Amino acid sequence: MATKALVEDYYDAHAEAEQRRLDEARLEYEITKRIINTCITSLEIQHANIIDIGGGPGRYAIRLAQQGHKVILNDLSSKNLTIAKTNAQTAGVVLEDVVHANALDITLHAAPASFDIVLCLGPLYHLTLLEERERVVSNALALAKPGAYVMLAYVTVFGHLRDVARRDPARLVSEWGFYEKYVRTGVYDRRSDNESFHVYPRDVERELKCVKGGAEVVKMVSCEGFLGFDTARALAGAGDEEMERWVDVVMQSADHPHTFSSAEHLVVVLKKF
Ligand SMILES: C[S@@+](CC[C@H](N)C(=O)[O-])C[C@H]1O[C@@H](n2cnc3c(N)ncnc32)[C@H](O)[C@@H]1O
Repeated sequence: MATKALVEDYYDAHAEAEQRRLDEARLEYEITKRIINTCITSLEIQHANIIDIGGGPGRYAIRLAQQGHKVILNDLSSKNLTIAKTNAQTAGVVLEDVVHANALDITLHAAPASFDIVLCLGPLYHLTLLEERERVVSNALALAKPGAYVMLAYVTVFGHLRDVARRDPARLVSEWGFYEKYVRTGVYDRRSDNESFHVYPRDVERELKCVKGGAEVVKMVSCEGFLGFDTARALAGAGDEEMERWVDVVMQSADHPHTFSSAEHLVVVLKKF
């Protein structure tokens, strides 16, 4: 596993960039919001209890609080949480709580079976051991009420390899010693300042064996849909109406297995039994 200090230091150092990330990855943001809103609507709850584990600068948390939901924001990075508090103040919303903690221990900081929606859109990117990813998934489920939704995000191996092909194609040969293992395991420990795990879409089922009996997998969604990362980024500057239409069209196939390989981010929706 990446030590807490390594990942925390990385996100502390990159908190400003993290704050802008979803402006550039706007399709990911809009698709994810659409998934969250669909879940809330299906619960028919006006004021949902929500916990955003690894919520960074609070883009989703603040938006959901603006909609009238009670939101607890958690992150490993104190710098991200400081930015989130400022953002919440600027937006004129109050977050129920802001919790500086590791997702591996989040059940020590929030009441079990008390949330209608549990978001975990970040921590699984940085846990290189399956048993730790399973612990975080189990923690997320433990916080959910029966019938509640849990959303888990993964970064894909294909997304990273597309990025290498685009920016530094020679690296696959010059660093084959590293990449030969990466394409087998998805463990990205090439950098000294961070450590990540990327998944193959076909392996998500194995990742989620631990939920068996505790939840059903409602769906898996490619946050970049059939467009893929680069083309999706071209939509960053779209007007609201245009974006809405693109999200409508992309969502028509974003939960079909044939679009999963185009994903940089995959969101899995679980419904707790
Ligand atoms: C790529 S950002 C995603 C932020 C936000 N959820 C989003 O989707 O835009 C990943 C976030 O997860 C946080 N994180 C990583 N590992 C974590 C862990 N073990 N516990 C809590 N937060 C963690 C990081 O500090 C960072 O803020």
